Amino acid sequence: MSTSPLSSPSVLSPDRYCVIGHPVAHSRSPWIHARFAALSGEPVDYQARLAPLDGFRASLHAFIAEGGRGCNVTVPFKHEAAACAHHVSARVQLAGAANTLVIDAQGQIHADNTDGLGLVADITRNAGRSLAGQDVLLVGAGGAAAGVLGPLLEQQPRRLVVCNRTAVKAQALVAGHQGLAEQQKVELQAQDQQALDGDFSIIINATAASLQGAGSPVPAQVLRPGSLAYDMMYGPAAQGFLDWAAQHGAQPRDGLGMLVEQAAAAFALWRGISPPAAQVLQELRVLLNTPASAAPASA
Ligand code: ATR
Repeated sequence: MSTSPLSSPSVLSPDRYCVIGHPVAHSRSPWIHARFAALSGEPVDYQARLAPLDGFRASLHAFIAEGGRGCNVTVPFKHEAAACAHHVSARVQLAGAANTLVIDAQGQIHADNTDGLGLVADITRNAGRSLAGQDVLLVGAGGAAAGVLGPLLEQQPRRLVVCNRTAVKAQALVAGHQGLAEQQKVELQAQDQQALDGDFSIIINATAASLQGAGSPVPAQVLRPGSLAYDMMYGPAAQGFLDWAAQHGAQPRDGLGMLVEQAAAAFALWRGISPPAAQVLQELRVLLNTPASAAPASA
């Protein structure tokens, strides 16, 4: 049977996607999406695009004019990405930031945020730890913490405490999520970082503290034996926190799986299929030579 050259996938140009950031050269997203495309057989071309600090919108619209079908957005443009979309998901409304944009056939921009989905998938699927009914501590109240709080609440932990070096920011983040917490029947509180009440089965570090060489922003009393101590970063940026966790009998885990899982959730929004994230995570660990306990999980 002969195939028309026009219907052969090999002669059709792949659909174009990208990650826009500043800086962006370090991003692992092009590698991850290339693996997703190869393993799923989807015709996807995914590149990194550097936007000037004052040029996110212009870069996005240039990409759309070139036929771009969707993009990831990383630091420092996630807030701007949410603001320039025609339609935003409930997750974006809550987080105030977007990491995934879908461009529809009319050129309309739909914004979503897959960071929290990525974190939850890595904790529950890859690390095999349930969040439901657990006592969870989220450390930090910047953009990274805001992006994951909603999806964490949707897992219905028993109690979720947010703490931050600047307490007022934790209080504001909690206030903005109280409605969702009530709906999900979660006890949500902001607490003083240096006077935390009780201990936790899951501690999530969403601060930039490790980047500055600090071990942990919270005291070891928050840990129970075997607590999951998760840093949303990976590589040297997470090392201080992971070493601190291991020294105190917790189970350390870096954010590499969150990076791969948020990419998988974006891929699913664009292509309508879930790529084999666990396999790609395993391959990426080999490439980077980082065990889960050693190593910004941003796009
Ligand atoms: P991101 O988008 O990565 O969250 P951000 O919005 O600048 O970046 O937030 C950084 C977070 O790390 C904040 O919670 C910050 O605390 P403050 O709100 O008090 O600034 C936290 N952070 C940064 N350095 C820290 C340190 N050395 N110790 C504790 N927390 C730190």
